[in-house]
Amino acid sequence: MALSDPVVAEPAADPAAAMPADWPALWEALLQDRAAAAIAAGAAVLCSPASPASAAWLELYQPLLNARRAPARSDVRPWVLAQLGQSLDGCVATATGDSYFVTGAHSLLHLHRLRALCDAVLVGAGTVAVDDPQLTTRRVPGPHPVRVVLDPAARLDGSARLLRDGAAPTLWLCDSRHAAVARERLASASAEVLAVDGLLDAAEPARGPDLGRAFAALAARGLRVMLVEGGGVTVSRCLEAGLLDRLHLVIAPVIIGAGRRGLQHPGPARMADCLRPPTRRLALGEDMLWDLDLRGPAGVAAAPG
Ligand SMILES: NC(=O)c1ccc[n+]([C@@H]2O[C@H](COP(=O)([O-])OP(=O)(O)OC[C@H]3O[C@@H](n4cnc5c(N)ncnc54)[C@H](OP(=O)(O)O)[C@@H]3O)[C@@H](O)[C@H]2O)c1
Repeated sequence: MALSDPVVAEPAADPAAAMPADWPALWEALLQDRAAAAIAAGAAVLCSPASPASAAWLELYQPLLNARRAPARSDVRPWVLAQLGQSLDGCVATATGDSYFVTGAHSLLHLHRLRALCDAVLVGAGTVAVDDPQLTTRRVPGPHPVRVVLDPAARLDGSARLLRDGAAPTLWLCDSRHAAVARERLASASAEVLAVDGLLDAAEPARGPDLGRAFAALAARGLRVMLVEGGGVTVSRCLEAGLLDRLHLVIAPVIIGAGRRGLQHPGPARMADCLRPPTRRLALGEDMLWDLDLRGPAGVAAAPG
């Protein structure tokens, strides 16, 4: 799914019309719960779904609220949910990088709801370079998350919209060695450079930056519930580093071909050792959302056949 303002017409279906009748009130209660949990761990506003359909939606978003209720500690990593909108053949964009739109309007609304329930949304520099996203919650009621661009070597030129529009607090996260360059490129722009020592000193640099350090730096900023919104490289690296608590894979009925991959981590040699976490499914219009609990009991390996 494209993450920024559409540059082509969006899918026409009205996703709001497909939601249960009690959804607007339930969403309002979820936002109140989010605010209460942010103020005091353990505080909760009761959300009472009126129908099985709204109960399913509530169940989908409840883990984000539960994560917020954990006692605040700046020395632990955030709770992290990643989401990717992909084709049936596992691509998140065409070979040219075009991702407007992989998934449909219902999925786009779901993505904005996730943003509203998270403290921060993080994307890789590749996504910013190609999509120039806004990463706001403009399609749903709810607060904007802090926006984080993971750009360890400060390869972006500083002109990206989210670094300059002031729509929400924004962090340009890079290794300390590249922070001065990033600050120079920002000049008077509203974003802030978050310099992280040792980000580029991972044990295996070929596998990307030390994401544990990146998330620790975000936790130290009080960002406790995070959404990693792509691209495929960044989500795959987070998965491989064991940093994801949950993964939302939204699969659209489209075949892209030789496009940009979604998940692309090496994986084990034996089928029996592959990740087979507990899952739930929810239809988002024509798309199917797979909600993967990566901390679930069978999230580490499949049971022998
Ligand atoms: N469908 C979806 O859900 C979804 C979500 C997000 C993005 N997307 C699409 O995914 C694509 C981007 O994802 P991705 O996996 O390639 O990257 P990404 O995860 O967003 O960012 C990390 C990758 O970008 C590279 N990179 C760093 N600076 C860059 C720059 N200035 N220009 C270009 N690349 C740079 C990094 O290389 P190094 O590690 O070598 O620095 C790394 O390979 C885009 O086409 C975007 O439209 C789709």
